Amino acid sequence: MSSDRPAAVATLPSATAPAVAPESSAPAPTAPVAEAALVTESAPLVEPAPDGGPLGPTGRPMPDLPDPPPRTSHGPARIIAMCNQKGGVGKTTTTINLGAALAEYGRRVLLVDFDPQGSLSVGLGFNPHEWEQSIYDLLLSDDGDVSDVVQHTEMEGLDLLPSNIDLSAAEVQLVGEVAREQTLARVLTPVMKHYDVVLIDCQPSLGLLTINALTAAHGVIVPLECEYFALRGVALLKHTIDKVTQRLNPSLRIDGVLGTMFDGRTLHSREVMERLVDAWGESVFHTVIRRTVKFSDSTVAGEPITTYAADSSAAEAYRQLAREVLVRCPDE
Ligand SMILES: Nc1ncnc2c1ncn2[C@@H]1O[C@H](COP(=O)(O)OP(=O)(O)OP(=O)(O)O)[C@@H](O)[C@H]1O
Ligand SMILES: [Mg+2]
Repeated sequence: MSSDRPAAVATLPSATAPAVAPESSAPAPTAPVAEAALVTESAPLVEPAPDGGPLGPTGRPMPDLPDPPPRTSHGPARIIAMCNQKGGVGKTTTTINLGAALAEYGRRVLLVDFDPQGSLSVGLGFNPHEWEQSIYDLLLSDDGDVSDVVQHTEMEGLDLLPSNIDLSAAEVQLVGEVAREQTLARVLTPVMKHYDVVLIDCQPSLGLLTINALTAAHGVIVPLECEYFALRGVALLKHTIDKVTQRLNPSLRIDGVLGTMFDGRTLHSREVMERLVDAWGESVFHTVIRRTVKFSDSTVAGEPITTYAADSSAAEAYRQLAREVLVRCPDE
């Protein structure tokens, strides 16, 4: 994957205010579809199958998404932030299961829990209260060793950089730091060479931690629940991504928008998907993640869906997403 660490060019001006306008100061969006139309962003095209092929769930012909070639060596990593300030849209579920699917394809993957709720840790079967050290300690110290904090999961090639509730204090403590927006990028630099992909599970906010994730990242994946109000707030998210791109990380791009909790039996889900494609065009992944209770079950079991229900269509959907990500962002 991309080997270039995005250049961090400047810190944002205010020393005390959040890096971008806080959510509360933004005008409340009232027309979700019109708002979404503001945010079209072109991601690299995934070519449709030559014969036009069958239509996929997004209403576009499904492209060929071949198994990725095995890697002969590893690193440097492409960093992808899983970002949407709306809660409960599938950020953590996607981080775990996309990460597990990429690991199945032989990629070395580091999952970064960047949410004080610690849901990523829980979803992988860990108890966040038990960590002696977490990403919080790395963010706040200049000489912490990230390798001491990384945990191996039960799955080969899948590691976790854990967090817990301590991380909620970091947002305040980092405010007075020099280059506060680049703190996560600095923490990740020493381990970039060990991994092919780093996935950052962001918290549902556009505060300083999320700005740190966007500053460290090469790409962003935006999970969006396939329901009517899902498009509310995406203009603010796009505005934040644009600001980070202009001021902190010029090489940041949107890797894709992922429709989650899709129910193809309902007209409602299909209409929302149509609007998503109208608004975001080719940025929308051809892969969609359907609604199923299997995801909650696998969280309770503390396992990715790819091992908990390895033959399920939900596991296959995340394998397909992994293939689509690797077609969009080839790594060899
Ligand atoms: N495709 C799906 N079908 C059904 N349930 C799902 C699906 N994806 C996620 N869920 C469930 O929805 C809930 C929220 O998912 P998840 O925690 O991944 O969202 P999130 O965006 O990370 O939330 P938060 O913003 O709170 O961090 C979880 O209980 C999860 O198991
Ligand atoms: Mg989450």
